[in-house]
Parts: sequence; structure tokens; C-alpha cells
Amino acid sequence: MPRTVIRGGLVITAAEETHADVLIEDEKIVALAASDSECARGWTADRTLDATGKYVIPGGVDPHTHMEMPFGGTFAADTFETGTRAAAWGGTTTIVDFAIQTKGHALREGLDAWHLKASGNCAIDYGFHMILSDVDQGSLKEMDLLVEEGVSSFKLFMAYPGVFYSDDGQILRAMQRGAANGGLIMMHAENGIAIDVLVEQALAEGRTDPRYHGEVRKALLESEATHRAIQLARVAGAPLYVVHVSAEEAVAELTQARDKGLPVFGETCPQYLFLSTDNLAEPDFEGAKYVCSTPLRPREHQAALWRGLRTNDLQVVSTDHCPFCFTGQKELGRGDFSKIPNGMPGVEHRMDLLHQAVVDGHISRRRWIEIACATPARMFGLYPKKGTIAPGADADVVIYDPAAEQTLSVETHHMNVDYSAYEGKQITGQVQTVLSRGTTVIDQREYTGRAGHGRYVPRATCQYLS
Ligand code: URP
Ligand code: ZN
Ligand code: ZN
Repeated sequence: MPRTVIRGGLVITAAEETHADVLIEDEKIVALAASDSECARGWTADRTLDATGKYVIPGGVDPHTHMEMPFGGTFAADTFETGTRAAAWGGTTTIVDFAIQTKGHALREGLDAWHLKASGNCAIDYGFHMILSDVDQGSLKEMDLLVEEGVSSFKLFMAYPGVFYSDDGQILRAMQRGAANGGLIMMHAENGIAIDVLVEQALAEGRTDPRYHGEVRKALLESEATHRAIQLARVAGAPLYVVHVSAEEAVAELTQARDKGLPVFGETCPQYLFLSTDNLAEPDFEGAKYVCSTPLRPREHQAALWRGLRTNDLQVVSTDHCPFCFTGQKELGRGDFSKIPNGMPGVEHRMDLLHQAVVDGHISRRRWIEIACATPARMFGLYPKKGTIAPGADADVVIYDPAAEQTLSVETHHMNVDYSAYEGKQITGQVQTVLSRGTTVIDQREYTGRAGHGRYVPRATCQYLS
């Protein structure tokens, strides 16, 4: 059994920071010991990785990606192959992607299709959530089977009428089913019916530029939907996870619910923490690069998001990685912002941007690991296999150089998209080496992984509820 030892680094988990050596056998972490201890010095290994002056952290767990997602007549530009390779470059070793139920079709059909897209193509491990586009007796029944086989979370949309939208009755029924079978409902909380009225009015008045995407998708319509989702979850006696929270008013709804002791959770994404409506307003249609939903908000909302992350009113930072090229894809919405495919690239940059947040003083190092690794793993039934460095865990380990300087750019990123949402942004900190189940997939900033190394990981139910 091949043995690897990582020596001399600062091991950071959500719980502690220790100068420790890490012993790996085959695909698993088997021991940690203080770096200067006799025990660690006595370890023999086939391979030694020097982490002196570096951090040794768990591989990132990104619980919200959309590889090859169909949207607005086109497909997200990253395949499972290109997207998971880019994730590895950025220190993420597990993604949970969204399989999609097509209206009128079974959940099983959608799930099978996503297995086919991913199988044999991924550089890192992956799991699936299921998007419910058609809540009826058949799909409700199928939810039970999916939970049993490791697809234990279901996304519903209060937005996108006619596409993914579910009405309140459908949402209540899905929540009731989730309460019974252990499935966690993930909510896209925006009032899509009201938004569509505002879209129609904006277009009729000639307001067609990308920035109007942000104006019609009002913060109040995010907070109203968040409030409604929370009340529906209370009625159903179900837990709730609200995805891609961007508005201060929506954070306030989550805070209020959590202060009542309700099992309500929230996720935000780097784009809401680092970008704003200023980007959506960039001239020459460049704002289209930043069209996603929920939309970017005015800069003033960011303080509430950072506060929520510090106070644990928000628990997770995912990417909602859903890239569309500017040329030929975002351009579909020239002259009509409602036709710009919704989504942004980001799977490669989450760990770095959050490390920058540590450098900037927004969060601590342990909180960085908690919101990017440990909590997403626990939330979606992957802990302690994923999300930590401990005996028995998968050897998904990143050697991170906290002093390296880098500049984010389309010239250097590995995502299959023709722009960077963070072009020119300076970051302190960079991934140096990445192990996925003990296999080196990034070796001192060289890609050594392969499509097909990544395995499907069936998940348990949410570990904050049991
Ligand atoms: O704009 C976004 N977020 N696109 C991906 C689909 C979704 O709603 O998460
Ligand atoms: Zn969404
Ligand atoms: Zn999404």
C-alpha cells in the first residue's frame, strides 16, 4: 500500500490549527502527529511532500455547480471534464452538481443522464443533487428512492416560471416529503412571477441592457421569497437550505429564522462577496458577463453577507459555477437582457478568494475551512470522508502557499470560458499541490490528474439534522 507523508505544514481544519505531519496510506489519511514528535519522525513512506511554510488543508467541497447545464437555449460551457479539472487547480476536490428533471419526465431519467455526462470524465470526486422541475405524485415518490441511493437533496425554484418554477403547493408537498424521507430542500428564493412582470415592463420601455437584469430582480423579491420559503418549511416541519443568497434583506430573514431555532441554512457565493451591480453596469454589453440569479447587488449588501458568514447565519460558500462564454452565449441577450444565459464561472477561484478574505480580515483561517470544506460536507452528508483532515478521511488534501501572489485572469485560468469575472484581481495565496484520495492531481502547479480518476460519491442525509 503506497504511503505518503506530508511534513512540516500548518494543518488547518474547521476545528483547529496544528503543526503536524500527515500520514496517508493508499486513499486515506491514517494518522496525524506533531511535526517535531518522535512518532512523526518514525514514519517511513514511499513519498514525502514538504509543506514547510505552507498550510495543509482539506480539499474544498463545492456543493453547487452546474457543469453542462442547459439554460436559455444553450449549455454551460464547462463539461464535467474541464470543470472538475479547473476545480482541482483551485484546490476543490469534491463537487456536488445538479442533475435536472425535465418537465414531464421522471427524476430517474434526469439522474441517469447526469451520471452519463459525469462518469469517466471527472478529475475529482462528485455527487449529485436533483432539480425538481415537475413536482407531482410520481416525482414525490421517486424522491424516497433517490435519498436511499445517495441523492439526498432537492433544488426547487420559486423563479423561472414555465421552466423550473414550482408553485407554493408543489413546494409544500416536496418539503413534506423531504421532512419524511430526510431529503433536504434547497431553494432558489426569488419571486419569479413578480420578476417576469417587471422584465416585461422593462423591455417594453426599452430598458434592455444587462444592468436591468439586476434592477428587475429586486432584493425585496429575494427576501419575500426567502420569507415564504421559510414559512412553508415551518408548516411542513422540514429543514431548508437557501442557495445563492445575495441580498441583505434575505440574510435578515435567515437570521430571524435561525434566532427562532429553526433548521434553516443559507449559502452565498464569491460573486456576491466580491462583485456588485457596478459590474453589471459595465458598458458595451460587458455587464452580461455578470448576469446570474439571484443577481449581483449594490456593494452595500456585502457587509451583511460577510457578517452572516461570521455569525453563522450563513454557513456555506459555494460557487454556483455555471459558465457561459461571452462570445456566442452571453451575446444571445444583446438587446434583451432576459435572454442572457444566467450564470457565472467560479469553480477554480473559491478557495483563493476566501483565502483573500482571510488576508483582508473578513474571516479567520478556520472559518475559511469551515465554510468551504467542513460545513458543505456535513450539510450534504459527506463528512468526515470529505471536508476534514483526520484519520479515516479520504486523502483529499491541499498544500496551500499563503504567501504566493497571483493575478486572476482568463489568460491563466483553466475553466472553459472566454472571460474571467475577476480579471486582474490580485490574490495573496495559491494552491500548490492537491491530492485527491491520495493521488496527486496538482503537483507544484502542474496538472497530473486525469479524467476518470474522480468517482461518484453517494451521500448520506444532512448531518446537521441527525
Ligand atoms: O444564474 C444562475 N445562478 N444560474 C444557475 C442556475 C441557478 O439558478 O442556480
Ligand atoms: Zn438557483
Ligand atoms: Zn445554481
